[in-house]
Amino acid sequence: MADRPVHLAARLGEIQPFRVMEILGKARAMEAAGRPVIHMEIGEPDFPTPDAIVRAGIEALEQGHTHYTPALGLPELRQVIADHYPAGARPDASRVVVTPGGSGALQLILAALVNPGDEVLIADPGYPCHRHFVRLFEGRAVAVPVDAASGFQLSAKSIREHWTPRTVAALVVSPSNPTGTVIEDEELRAIVETVRELGGRLIVDEIYHGLTYGGNVRSVLTHADDVFVLNSFSKYFGMTGWRLGWLVAPKEYVDGIERLAQNIFIAAATPAQYAALHAFDADVIAELDRRRDIFRERRDYLVPALRDLGFRVPVVPGGAFYIYADCSRFGRDSETLAREILEQTAIALTPGNDFGSFESGRYLRVSYATDLDSLREAVARLQSWPGREST
Ligand SMILES: Cc1ncc(COP(=O)(O)O)c(C=O)c1O
Repeated sequence: MADRPVHLAARLGEIQPFRVMEILGKARAMEAAGRPVIHMEIGEPDFPTPDAIVRAGIEALEQGHTHYTPALGLPELRQVIADHYPAGARPDASRVVVTPGGSGALQLILAALVNPGDEVLIADPGYPCHRHFVRLFEGRAVAVPVDAASGFQLSAKSIREHWTPRTVAALVVSPSNPTGTVIEDEELRAIVETVRELGGRLIVDEIYHGLTYGGNVRSVLTHADDVFVLNSFSKYFGMTGWRLGWLVAPKEYVDGIERLAQNIFIAAATPAQYAALHAFDADVIAELDRRRDIFRERRDYLVPALRDLGFRVPVVPGGAFYIYADCSRFGRDSETLAREILEQTAIALTPGNDFGSFESGRYLRVSYATDLDSLREAVARLQSWPGREST
């Protein structure tokens, strides 16, 4: 049979794989060969889903909750999600939409906002799927370079500077992936006002909320109800594999988002939604807050340890489980360094170029979603790693 031409959509050319997959592939091969790897490239909590949530999921299955739910989600789950916001930030449950992960929420928001050629401002470095989702909807993600001086975050000033007549939205992530940095509450308020004045919409990715270590980290809903917020059960709640998240939309968008949800995925997974009804139970939250304190302890150990090893950590991360470490002192770009460190010390790290192009060769994302003993072992290995000396 003659070779058939492969027809590929142009957008595929602009959707890159996660570069860390190459590191992960090598790490798996090393493990298969009997060499244990310390995984500090991971983007999900190492803790299992809390027991009460798991049991509720099993019960849902046993009780036959295996059919579709309404497209916007189980009404009682939308209510529980709305109620978990503190007074002053609490949305009406009619504005809460349950989605397949924060990823599903992002797709709905961008599908509702972006026309071909429309621009969306995002931070570089930033979570790569954001720019890829904008591309998916034929928009243009405008990567705004951010550095330590702005806490690796967009600001009201940089948003204003990069706004053009084609810009429809700015997307901020606080705490951020890959930097763990947080937008201060006052700055967040200024961003809300600036985007409003410029006539666009603000999207705030709050997926790492709950995993914050001090400071005044409040939902943007404290400041506004004309913004889009996305969140998820993946990170703080430890439910990555359940694929469940939510968004809060301005009320005039809910009808359009409902039509999109009906068509794109019909509804989020039903057993996961029943399980999540218990995610906000007092004993579950107490357990999750204990885990948050463990993450903080790991951060407090790792930031000074990395600095002692010669990495520069210009901003102490206020949340998530990532440290964005400047490795320029070692004289190689971060991708080469990540490969060398893996081969020579069996520690897996993510190079900065997974998150954008601005100064990405200087940075490694170090995840502390692994236990403290492993982190101590990693630091010990790096202390005796010969590559450290070749600066
Ligand atoms: C900033 C950010 N947003 C959204 C997501 C999507 O997560 P999920 O679809 O599991 O909720 C992630 C996952 O790593 C993330 O880091």
